[in-house]
Amino acid sequence: MSGGNHEVRTPWGFLAVRLPLPENEQWKNDQVTILQALGVLDLEGNPTARLDVVKAADVARLTQEAFDAERAKLLKVCSDCHSDNFAKAEMAKGDDMIRETDRLLAEAIAVIAGLYADGIIEKPESYAAPFPDLLTFHDAPTPIEQKLFVMHLKHRMRAFQGTFHANPDYALWYGWSEMVRDLAEIKEAAAELRYRHQ
Ligand code: HEC
Repeated sequence: MSGGNHEVRTPWGFLAVRLPLPENEQWKNDQVTILQALGVLDLEGNPTARLDVVKAADVARLTQEAFDAERAKLLKVCSDCHSDNFAKAEMAKGDDMIRETDRLLAEAIAVIAGLYADGIIEKPESYAAPFPDLLTFHDAPTPIEQKLFVMHLKHRMRAFQGTFHANPDYALWYGWSEMVRDLAEIKEAAAELRYRHQ
């Protein structure tokens, strides 16, 4: 670690969300869905009270300047030993992985939001928006919502953190591949719940 300090502070932060949102339209929509399920944006895309908690905890970078400053700091460390282009290409791999995992996660969130909307499962009263609440953690009330919690907080973490740590095995098998299977299982469980509800 540079100067013996791991710091556990990165451009993408603990949850791999940030502001401003990505320019890529699909990715932007997916990040909005995730931020809504994190409860920091409301249905209209406006900040909620929970965003202040995230701000106070400093777990996400909320301006372009803050993100760029953290990334520049990282790249400077890499450039002690690697070329700048090599280090930048490595960072881009991590960014790409976040974009791809966000596609899977946003789809899973939408499946469960659809179950609330159609009255197939009951949305807990404490949830502000008609979205599953990703920060309910282990208290998610049904197996399908539990699966989403694990998909988000265990498998997505491994996929992008594995990529940024240059660990393809972890990123693929313990992260990405698990997420693909989570999504398939969430879709299957949703279909089952809808069938039983008829
Ligand atoms: C103190 C020197 C040093 C620093 C700082 C450093 N690296 Fe490395 N890195 C190395 C060495 C040496 C290797 C080759 C290790 C080996 O082959 O066993 C390596 C290998 C790698 C590899 C694997 C390359 C391959 O083809 O297998 C990646 C990816 C990598 N570094 C990324 C980074 C990134 C990103 C940073 C900054 C966050 C960074 N490194 C910082 C010295 C460093």
